[in-house]
Amino acid sequence: MGSIPPNQGPDPSLVYRPEGHPEAAKDKGSFRNYTHAQFRSFSYKRMAVLEAVDMLDRLVDESDPDVDFPNSFHAFQTAEGIRQAHPNKDWFHLVGLLHDLGKVLALAGEPQWAVVGDTFPVGCRPQASVVFHDSTFQDNPDLQDPRYSSDLGMYQPHCGLENVLMSWGHDEYMYQVMKFNNFSLPPEAFYMIRFHSFYPWHTGGDYRHLCSEQDLAMLPWVQEFNKFDLYTKCPDLPDVGQLRPYYQGLIDKYCPGVLSW
Ligand SMILES: [Fe+2]
Ligand SMILES: [Fe+2]
Repeated sequence: MGSIPPNQGPDPSLVYRPEGHPEAAKDKGSFRNYTHAQFRSFSYKRMAVLEAVDMLDRLVDESDPDVDFPNSFHAFQTAEGIRQAHPNKDWFHLVGLLHDLGKVLALAGEPQWAVVGDTFPVGCRPQASVVFHDSTFQDNPDLQDPRYSSDLGMYQPHCGLENVLMSWGHDEYMYQVMKFNNFSLPPEAFYMIRFHSFYPWHTGGDYRHLCSEQDLAMLPWVQEFNKFDLYTKCPDLPDVGQLRPYYQGLIDKYCPGVLSW
């Protein structure tokens, strides 16, 4: 206690886009939506990892064409696929279980469009590989604003993805939860979770002009994770009760106890 939580730096959205600050918004109307604030303060709920997994029993992801069963099964399927292929990397197994837990947002009143689906950088021109690119952005005012509609937009070349403001969703939220609660997982684990829905980058091959050397070094890890996220989806559902003790052991090792969400 008493140490500064790691997530207390300035919100990049305010650094880059000061017109979105609430003080400026008094005059200019509402530029940005601040309903995500309660989730960035981790005051939503206190619960252990497996309680969050159990919450996803109640969630079917509307954006996923490959899954029509609760997301809790997808968590175990992904984890077990990784465990089979990488038996000696127990932290990676846990990434499989954790990666979509940010979707609890959809059970906390957030609309699914703000929780699931692909992610992409905001404040620059959306690249062609963003899913539904043509229909999604046609009414976006940023594309009429020269500051935000070039390839670089509000960024410097190769600034690094850690300095890029991504569209909000379950990836960024879960990454912030992991940081706030001091998960003792390796950097690769944080990276996989933070960018697993950034398909325009890890699969589409776009946005390389924003990447640092570190981003490119981490890319193969994100792509390795993606194989299991995608291809372990199967209507033959696992015996979750039998798997829980193994994963509880990993949770006790890397992210024990009751966490702040
Ligand atoms: Fe996901
Ligand atoms: Fe997933």
